[in-house]
Amino acid sequence: MITPLQPRAGLPHGYPYDYERQVSLHDGRIVHVRPVVPGDAVLLARGVKEADADTLYHRFFNPAIKLDSRRLRYLTDIDYEKRFALAAFADGEGVAIARFEPAAGGVAEVAVVVKPEWRRLGLATEMFALLEEAALERGVVEFEALYLPDNHAIERVLEKRGFRDVTVDSGVARVTKKLRERFTYREHPSH
Ligand SMILES: CC(C)(COP(=O)(O)OP(=O)(O)OC[C@H]1O[C@@H](n2cnc3c(N)ncnc32)[C@H](O)[C@@H]1OP(=O)(O)O)[C@@H](O)C(=O)NCCC(=O)NCCS
Repeated sequence: MITPLQPRAGLPHGYPYDYERQVSLHDGRIVHVRPVVPGDAVLLARGVKEADADTLYHRFFNPAIKLDSRRLRYLTDIDYEKRFALAAFADGEGVAIARFEPAAGGVAEVAVVVKPEWRRLGLATEMFALLEEAALERGVVEFEALYLPDNHAIERVLEKRGFRDVTVDSGVARVTKKLRERFTYREHPSH
């Protein structure tokens, strides 16, 4: 299942078909989720241009952010291994995007944005569940999320997904979720 927006022939190397999903929301509507592809740069540009200041502030910590073509390419041209992103569509329109990106110490940072008309229907929670599935398959040991402390919506989503241990530094809150034990090599005594 892929939206008509992306012809199959143009799919990038390593495109993970197994993350094409249908997600049923709390109100019964269905959205189509699939991995982000470079062709989504156009949709992302439009989404950011049309987004309200509050959404941009909470997602990018900047209410007036503008994404230049280099940044748009960076956000949509991903390797599906260390960098992974999913987009949700309904009626051919993008309604949400969620991603993880490598951060310091082998941790991956997650972020999500859902269009206002599609909020409080369980979509962000579902997309984080899918990101977690992908991260586990790719050996990520820990997730972190950074958000503004007044963002009670994402706070609740993260709490529901099991993120804990909130710290606040320079006005930014951080929570983490351990996905697996770190592998530490110990030499066998008999060797
Ligand atoms: C934060 C955001 C992604 C949440 O998306 P969403 O799809 O509405 O979240 P969900 O529907 O999965 O909600 C999960 C839980 O959070 C609760 N929740 C969602 N929005 C809430 C709000 N504004 N206030 C309080 N609780 C809220 C839901 O009720 C639900 O809890 P419940 O199951 O106990 O009812 C969305 O509000 C958004 O895009 N905000 C702007 C961008 C942003 O802040 N991104 C986060 C930066 S990492």
